[in-house]
Amino acid sequence: MPKPESKNTGCGCRQLEEVAPKEKPKTLYDRLGGADGITQLVNDAIELNLNNPIVKTRFENTEDMERARLMTIEFFCAGSGGPETYSGRDLLTTHRGMNISEEEFIAVLDDIFEAMDKNQLDEDVKKDVLSILYSVKSEIIRV
Ligand code: HEM
Repeated sequence: MPKPESKNTGCGCRQLEEVAPKEKPKTLYDRLGGADGITQLVNDAIELNLNNPIVKTRFENTEDMERARLMTIEFFCAGSGGPETYSGRDLLTTHRGMNISEEEFIAVLDDIFEAMDKNQLDEDVKKDVLSILYSVKSEIIRV
């Protein structure tokens, strides 16, 4: 049981109140399962990308897919509140000149969502990931 604590109620009197123990809110990184969960998620998403007719050639033609995979894991770890540092190129530099279409962007999002479902991630996690991905679209599409 939490210890009763004296709290000023603002009406001039003091009363004893049960104070709930303060829990640190979980970061998105934690909710994604930390580095292990994110690694699994990125691996699954890349597997789907490589089988998705809309985007597969993009990834088949990438010279060093292993590096891109590791950079994407780092990107998600660092961007979701994890302790990792992102050592890759910024998104604009990475995707500049690729002429990526809206359709391709949505196809990659669909694959990430399918991978999140496969990894049984909660709706709130999926919403948070979506809002991050949506926020970077201007650094990816037709840049
Ligand atoms: C949805 C948001 C996206 C994010 C957050 C993202 C993130 C990244 C990251 C972090 C890298 C590695 C950067 C580096 O090598 O230093 C990367 C590489 C790459 N991305 Fe994306 N990406 C996104 C969407 C897309 C889309 C829609 C496509 C095309 C269909 C795409 C195609 C590629 C390719 C081909 C590479 C490898 C580039 C290379 O190594 O030459 N990305 N992306």
